Amino acid sequence: MTTRIAVLVSGGGTNLQALIDARNRGELPHGELALVVSNNKDAYALERAVKAGIPTAVCLREKGEDREVFEARLAAILQANDIDMLILAGFMAILSSIFVSRYPDRIINVHPSLIPSFCGEGFYGLRVHRAALDYGVKVTGATVHFVNEIPDGGRIICQKAVDILPGDTPETLQRRVMEQAEWVLLPRAAELVAQQLAGRK
Ligand code: GAR
Repeated sequence: MTTRIAVLVSGGGTNLQALIDARNRGELPHGELALVVSNNKDAYALERAVKAGIPTAVCLREKGEDREVFEARLAAILQANDIDMLILAGFMAILSSIFVSRYPDRIINVHPSLIPSFCGEGFYGLRVHRAALDYGVKVTGATVHFVNEIPDGGRIICQKAVDILPGDTPETLQRRVMEQAEWVLLPRAAELVAQQLAGRK
């Protein structure tokens, strides 16, 4: 039995690509990348999914729309696709505690810092790296964690440290953190959690 995984994305989808590449190398034996859902219809991640033969869905939150209404649509898409586990891979929206409580220990997220540094509401994408550089830390990294009702507050699954180098910009640092940490950690954590869930099916 494999765990049916939906990957939630908003942008470029390099973490999605890392999951696809791991799958193609046979490194995700307990998980099936069953669906990619984007809350941005122009996300390049959608093209990556199509190229990899993974079904896609777009779930937009309209301007001024209540989060519950958006989440009800998202939940319907996930249910219709029999999804067991969610991976937030650059998904730039915070899910409500009601939504999250439907998937206890079944949602994981990749965050581009060593939690509890530079995390929580307002810390996403390049902003995280800018904050690390502004603070002057010499080491940063990435974290994969379970998602609970606290933004970036769920139980940590794995972390990897990455050096900050003289002359780094948010962009150079983001790239190094992705290459050395995120793209390595996320597929490993996905397989670990998928394996646990597959055992319970
Ligand atoms: C990644 O660095 C991911 O860790 C970060 O956004 C980027 C998405 O890139 N996520 C967050 O900041 C969430 N708080 P990608 O679309 O190329 O995977």
